[in-house]
Amino acid sequence: MPYVVTDNCIRCKYTDCVEVCPVDCFYEGDNMLVIHPDECIDCGVCEPECPAEAIKPDTEPGLEKWLKLNAEYAEKWPNITVRKDPLPEAKEFDGVPNKLEAHFSEKPGEGD
Ligand code: SF4
Ligand code: F3S
Repeated sequence: MPYVVTDNCIRCKYTDCVEVCPVDCFYEGDNMLVIHPDECIDCGVCEPECPAEAIKPDTEPGLEKWLKLNAEYAEKWPNITVRKDPLPEAKEFDGVPNKLEAHFSEKPGEGD
């Protein structure tokens, strides 16, 4: 049962999470990260590191769509293991609801 990145990562992308993952299973999109569900070992250390509280265990109810999105884009986007600056609009977008519908980008990020 992996952890998943959820809505509030979008347009924040703080990247603190990637520094602590022991198996380097974060993948970078243009404006959010995802976790590869087959690589995540469910250690939980990334969850408290996210300033946007966007990382959740998939045992929480209602996260099916996020599990699917993480699985899909972890196969398409490049791996990221080193922290980089958050997006310039991160503070402004932290806590904005329903970012998936309004702001999600399928474009890949740059990765490491
Ligand atoms: Fe990586 Fe552990 Fe977070 Fe999974 S729960 S993404 S293995 S830090
Ligand atoms: Fe996103 Fe939080 Fe990581 S905002 S990039 S999940 S630290």
